[in-house]
Amino acid sequence: MNRPIRIAPSILSADFTRLGDEIRAIDADGADYIHVDVMDGHFVPNITIGPLIVSAIRPLTRKLIDVHLMIAPVDPFLSAFAKAGADSITVHAEAGPHLHRSLQAIRAEGKRAGVAINPATPVSAIEHVIDDVDLILVMSVNPGFGGQKFIAQSYAKLRQARALIGGRPIDLEVDGGVSVDNARALAEAGADLFVAGTSVFSGNDPTSYAGRIAAIRNAATAVTA
Ligand code: DX5
Ligand code: ZN
Repeated sequence: MNRPIRIAPSILSADFTRLGDEIRAIDADGADYIHVDVMDGHFVPNITIGPLIVSAIRPLTRKLIDVHLMIAPVDPFLSAFAKAGADSITVHAEAGPHLHRSLQAIRAEGKRAGVAINPATPVSAIEHVIDDVDLILVMSVNPGFGGQKFIAQSYAKLRQARALIGGRPIDLEVDGGVSVDNARALAEAGADLFVAGTSVFSGNDPTSYAGRIAAIRNAATAVTA
């Protein structure tokens, strides 16, 4: 194994009263991607943020902005997130009947196309779009909220997804309940992109972020080095 480990702090757990400072802090403290959780109160039981926030944070960082769309329908909003400055746009396989079309639309905007699968969705659901994606996101909690308990079945799911990826240059992202305690096992199962909300931002003390990001990276890298 020789995959670089990347850490994507989720701003869902940031202090929104000083979001700009939170973005600058994780940028300086080693984040590789900035993970943005978009929720609509329909596909998931929570409402968060839209393209306006993505365009507001875009000038604050040169790191990749990794937009995770938990919305349905998704197609009418892809262009807005692309124009707002997303680098990577991930849609859920469960969000509609035309996943292939959504992935094509993301690539047509010149962005990296991601597909996410919920805990109950089998890896086989994305088998036929594997050559149309740049990123696979395995949800290791039910989407909607930060701070939930990691679902252990996700290890098996990651192994299957890694096998499906084979030699393709596709990121394998794990999202939900990721911490320094499970990072090593997650890397062993094949994950190379780690979303971390609570485990980076809890307490919202910027002096803690660098150490936490490094600890997750070091735990995961111990496997792949
Ligand atoms: C959940 C979101 C996650 C969430 C992760 O629906 O997709 O990105 O912010 O939060 P933690 O790391 O706290 O589980
Ligand atoms: Zn997410």
